[in-house]
Amino acid sequence: MKFKIMVLPGDGVGSEVVAEGVKALNAVGKKYGHSFDYTYGLVGGAAIDVQGTALAPETLALCKKSEGVLFGAVGGPKWDDPKAQVRPEDGILALRKGLGLFANLRPVKLYPMLIDSSPIKPDIVRGTDFIFIRELTGGLYFGKPKKQWQTARGERAVDTMAYSEKEITRIVHVGFELARSRRKKLVSVDKANVLQTSRLWRQVATGLAKEYPDVELEHMLVDSCSMRLIQQPTYFDIVVTENTFGDILTDEASMLAGSMGMMPSASLAAIPKEGEKSFGLYEPIHGSAPKRAGQNLVNPIATILSAAMLLRYSLALPKEAQAVEAAVEAVLKDGYRTYDIMGDDTKKVGTREMGDLVAGKIG
Ligand code: IPM
Ligand code: MG
Repeated sequence: MKFKIMVLPGDGVGSEVVAEGVKALNAVGKKYGHSFDYTYGLVGGAAIDVQGTALAPETLALCKKSEGVLFGAVGGPKWDDPKAQVRPEDGILALRKGLGLFANLRPVKLYPMLIDSSPIKPDIVRGTDFIFIRELTGGLYFGKPKKQWQTARGERAVDTMAYSEKEITRIVHVGFELARSRRKKLVSVDKANVLQTSRLWRQVATGLAKEYPDVELEHMLVDSCSMRLIQQPTYFDIVVTENTFGDILTDEASMLAGSMGMMPSASLAAIPKEGEKSFGLYEPIHGSAPKRAGQNLVNPIATILSAAMLLRYSLALPKEAQAVEAAVEAVLKDGYRTYDIMGDDTKKVGTREMGDLVAGKIG
């Protein structure tokens, strides 16, 4: 079969890791008789430099014509001026909003051979395997007003945290559905002791629980959750939360998987039923790491595993997705590591070599 994929490498290490994701897809194509038709576009700082905006309307239109988007990372010191009118990050935010990608899935899985890469004690982190569901198109990121202005007593700034019942309902549904396919335990994270949006969140989640009598729902405060993640990571199976909490907690959770370089993500407009496809954008959760760019250094596995999620959710190719995941595991078992996950008796490789090794195992 032939599939149309949009590729947006972005800034910093984005192009290096995305190249390895494409390599993995090509290896899948060769092995299983698929062909991937790639269209490349600019996003973030790269787009600002050439097109004057972090996401040109043409690029968004091309994404809509594709079956899925493989995304690298955006940002860098060159575009960091706080007074700048356009920011690289606007590119990814416009994509999420413009494509209606409200459900962000971030699996946190510790590969057993990386147990010593996690800063958490082995006895605590062993067996960590859960999925974080982050609401992606609401909350502080998009609420209005959002502005900074001059007052008689100095400058002021405001961001707005807003959520509607509809927005909460659709994301918490995703949580319940995924929980049903796993250990039937859903943790909903909020700050209901302080925030009104969180009280609405809790009310909606409690209401939905009646539709899922087979799933156990637990409400957890975000501060307590941040502690529990480190204290007992195996406690979690499916976690659902709003945009900002999800942003922060998933960086924390990446340390359970050994490295940010191991954490893929899928941003979806709907969760596909088995055998069906749903449009999505796939990106590593790490950033553009400008200091490490251009050195063939960083770990491409997060992007390769994101490509696997693309195969699973947007192309309905679960067998092929599994082949990619198994290849990653096999390469790690063989002892190959990028700098971020080095351990005793491991062999250090660069970005390209890691990508070649994984592609080799797929084929
Ligand atoms: C992420 C990133 C983004 C976010 C940035 C780059 C805007 O941190 O995907 O977690 O805050 O959502
Ligand atoms: Mg983040």
